Amino acid sequence: MREVRGLAITPEQAAWAAMHDVEGQMIVPSPLKWPGGKGRPSYVGPLRDAFNRVGRQRRVVEPFLGGANIALNLQPERALLSDSDPHLISAYEHMLSPEGISIDWSQFTDDEGMIEKPTFYDLIRGGLPQGRIGTWPPREGSLNHFMQNMQDLSPEERRRMVQMWLLFQQAAYQGHTRRRDGLFRIGSGTLGPYSPTWDYSHYAPLMRGWDLRNMGIADFMDSDLVNPEQDFLVLDPPYLKQGANYTPDGFDRLQQPMAEWAGGLAQQGLPIVAFNSQFARPLYDKERFNTILHSRMDTSGGRGGQRGVRPEMIAYANIPDMDWFRNHPSAQFIKSQDAFAIGWSMLSH
Ligand SMILES: C[S@@+](CC[C@H](N)C(=O)[O-])C[C@H]1O[C@@H](n2cnc3c(N)ncnc32)[C@H](O)[C@@H]1O
Repeated sequence: MREVRGLAITPEQAAWAAMHDVEGQMIVPSPLKWPGGKGRPSYVGPLRDAFNRVGRQRRVVEPFLGGANIALNLQPERALLSDSDPHLISAYEHMLSPEGISIDWSQFTDDEGMIEKPTFYDLIRGGLPQGRIGTWPPREGSLNHFMQNMQDLSPEERRRMVQMWLLFQQAAYQGHTRRRDGLFRIGSGTLGPYSPTWDYSHYAPLMRGWDLRNMGIADFMDSDLVNPEQDFLVLDPPYLKQGANYTPDGFDRLQQPMAEWAGGLAQQGLPIVAFNSQFARPLYDKERFNTILHSRMDTSGGRGGQRGVRPEMIAYANIPDMDWFRNHPSAQFIKSQDAFAIGWSMLSH
């Protein structure tokens, strides 16, 4: 028997374990490579359970949609989903549109299906790699050229821009596109091999009932969009003291107002699950949430960043018996993919 690094499970079992929750229900992967995703079984399993407990007729509300792992895996009838990143929301809107969106990469790839870095930088980003001066304005038809002409794009050009953005963020390390000056400037990442066509229309049926908004959390909190009687709120913001990757301008000043806003809604009976770093725990304790710390695998950070197991806060309100989150089998075995896979295979077979 072939085994995963000396463990008594096969690679097939390990792969299966990473793609299913403990009840054997499939995990839908995000169409994007997006940092901070909640697509692991240790999140999806307990969140599915929480949604069942509060009532699946509720509308799922997520002001930090990101890679959409939560909405895709909860499969609510109705969802109100928002993110401050306009490109992200535009990409989902195109996936949901009647025409759908697919990408033919053949013009960018070589005979082996690889995208050469110069091609990537020149045709997609729009100029030569970072550090070389004098390459702007960006080449016509490139992502950055579209960025500079956002006001005047035809629907066809918008679609093209989304296609460029999808490849760009897919090629970036951990999906971080490191934007400065409003332009896209990643300098490294994996570039293929890619399948010649990406067809996102497979996702459209899983996105039925999505109401998409492009709003920052400050505007979202000011709006009257959340209905405590009919919604289920999931908050997965950039983490306190760790969110620099998404928001160079700093998200941390919003953490306290956000916890207070959520606390007010919890008082009105709204079921809420909020994720954050351990540093946010006092904010949610103060708002009388139940809070637990568990361990998560941190794969973000990039060069020089810290990786490994870190504590993570899960705060919840108005969800009966949520201790299941702490005691959830897959959460106990999160410490490594291998350990999780063993845990899963011991429980299931
Ligand atoms: C941790 S990610 C969410 C990941 C998501 N739950 C998933 O499973 O893929 C946080 C998201 O917050 C968004 N964001 C950052 N600052 C924001 C703000 N001020 N208002 C709204 N969204 C913001 C980022 O664009 C990012 O997509």
